[in-house]
Amino acid sequence: MKSVDSGSLLPRRGEGEDEGVSSRGHSPHPNPRPRWGEGGYGISELLTLLTKHLTSYSDAPHLDAERIVLHVLKKREPAYLLAHATDKLSDQQIQEVTAMANRRKTGMPLAYILGEVDFFGRTFIVTPDVLIPRPDTETLIEKAIEYIIRHAGLRPGIHEEITIADICTGSGIIVITLALELEKLMQLKANEAKSYRFIATDISPAAIAIAKQNAQNHGVADTIEFIEGDMLDPFDFAQGKPHKIDLIVSNPPYIQTSELDAIYSPQQPYLPHFNAKRWNVGLLFEPRIALDGGPDGQKFVNQIKTSGIPAIIETTGGAIITLVQPLPLK
Ligand SMILES: C[S@@+](CC[C@H](N)C(=O)[O-])C[C@H]1O[C@@H](n2cnc3c(N)ncnc32)[C@H](O)[C@@H]1O
Repeated sequence: MKSVDSGSLLPRRGEGEDEGVSSRGHSPHPNPRPRWGEGGYGISELLTLLTKHLTSYSDAPHLDAERIVLHVLKKREPAYLLAHATDKLSDQQIQEVTAMANRRKTGMPLAYILGEVDFFGRTFIVTPDVLIPRPDTETLIEKAIEYIIRHAGLRPGIHEEITIADICTGSGIIVITLALELEKLMQLKANEAKSYRFIATDISPAAIAIAKQNAQNHGVADTIEFIEGDMLDPFDFAQGKPHKIDLIVSNPPYIQTSELDAIYSPQQPYLPHFNAKRWNVGLLFEPRIALDGGPDGQKFVNQIKTSGIPAIIETTGGAIITLVQPLPLK
């Protein structure tokens, strides 16, 4: 499933009629096009070839092509590609582009190929050990901030410290984004909480390791406590004891088991050439533990809902915001 097609992406030396001196010995073209293997491809030309090449495999082939070339060039801004349209890539760079494009052809999501993803305006590391953040999760974060402002911020003299838990943290995008956004709000004095404390949990040690790395990269490692554990187990309230959590924000696994079984089934013909554009092909590369929400997809959400936590619960898609203990309002 995950084998990488080693086929070449671009025409090889001597292929194509208009590529300099042809193998049949015709006289040189007055403006010879650069040839594969000579590091001769200009950025714009490469993007056109790459886009064409990925069209059968991606819903956004041009965007994928741009991201791959930018990554290999170690640049971030798409404007760079326009401004340097005729710059040539080295042989080494062309080979890197080719390898990445071939991986994309297997259906592997671009985020895993690049090793990073943009979320809420920031870049996070992702590996196949963690779910690729979904755009919908940005809404969850906006709602959580709304909650915090409504219940704690903008109101004088509320909590000294607010503790927020991100259960099923995966790559840590929720807890890290909240830490950074709330810090911004405090600087703007738009939120009167004195300070925030964050706890992030996941059952996967590999996910916790990625989340810690992301927290480090974003300078919030000191404010987040990462705990490996099963759902509510790491918290006192799982044992019915008092707790010090004010808010739970969680995006637990939410896909029905049967749906995943169908995708993973050997009966499902996985033919990259025909299926690579289907939305679910990318799921094959994500950890099943991050996706499987039980028979109705609600197993984990229900675990939080029925835990007896005194809560205002709001769900956004499969995700959940739980105001564990309504903060005292003045
Ligand atoms: C849907 S992913 C969410 C990842 C991240 N919060 C996000 O929104 O991108 C669900 C996460 O739950 C974790 N998980 C699965 N079962 C769990 C359990 N029983 N207890 C804690 N975490 C679990 C998975 O390892 C995965 O990282």
